[in-house]
Amino acid sequence: MTSHQDILLETIGSGVARITLNRPEARNALRTALLAELADTLEQTAADDSLRCVVLTGSSKVFAAGADIAEMAAMNMTEVLSDARPQHWARITAFPKPIVAAVNGFALGGGCELAMHADIIIAGSNAWFGQPEINLGIIPGAGGTQRLIRTVGKALASKMVLSGEFISAETALSAGLVAEVTQPELSLERAENLARTIAGKPPLAVQQAKAALLKSFDTTLGAGLDFERKTFVMLAGTEDRNEGIQAFMEKRKPEFKGR
Ligand code: CAA
Repeated sequence: MTSHQDILLETIGSGVARITLNRPEARNALRTALLAELADTLEQTAADDSLRCVVLTGSSKVFAAGADIAEMAAMNMTEVLSDARPQHWARITAFPKPIVAAVNGFALGGGCELAMHADIIIAGSNAWFGQPEINLGIIPGAGGTQRLIRTVGKALASKMVLSGEFISAETALSAGLVAEVTQPELSLERAENLARTIAGKPPLAVQQAKAALLKSFDTTLGAGLDFERKTFVMLAGTEDRNEGIQAFMEKRKPEFKGR
């Protein structure tokens, strides 16, 4: 286990790294130092071929309570303008391997935005998702207006962002924000099992699938289909593709090497 100031990094076997937000005294508020640690850790994980999928989690009561309000309070407009946070968020967004988030309790503001950086969210039935920034006289600042509306649609995103009201795990499930809802004590185990399944798939194809899925967020259908086709063709040149097809024909388990 690698212990940073605000996060814990553990490798839990089968190619999976678990990152736990660990700032209980401030309900895992995402101070800049935490975001920097998270971005650094993800970059290290991206460079480690033995790690193929990340599980991101918080505590049993709080995933993350958003940006650190005390830190924000101390900043004037000039400081907000030159803030390093957007760069840290961009580094988190650029992480090329899949992230499965296990969310229990509150995922608010930047915490909800961080959960949306995961490719898949498994929510405990005690999870609450919200963008309460409006109560502070601000708006979401890490993609909350853009990713939320693309994920849950205009009606629910507008209700959440304009009123600050939270939505439950069940509502998040029916809106497509989360993939599954489990009993609170089972969400981490389910996320880890899913991460192990993904980590067992051919890593080049997994990373390209993630890239193609995310492409749909910021391009036209035509450009997205073009990206998908080119990626599909590129994967035809990989050893893993030959191995996957060969193993199917020979009725054996494939051995993917990431080449
Ligand atoms: N920033 C800094 N400190 C926070 C915090 C935050 N976002 N959330 C909680 N804390 C601190 C509290 O100040 C408190 O500290 P003290 O013990 O020193 O008083 C401690 O954590 C415990 O907080 P609570 O007593 O409120 O804990 P709770 O369990 O009763 O409630 C909660 C938990 C519902 C998450 C509540 O703390 C809360 O509503 N937090 C704020 C949520 C919020 O408004 N988030 C949006 C932040 S803005 C943002 O995120 C902008 C962006 O994207 C860029």
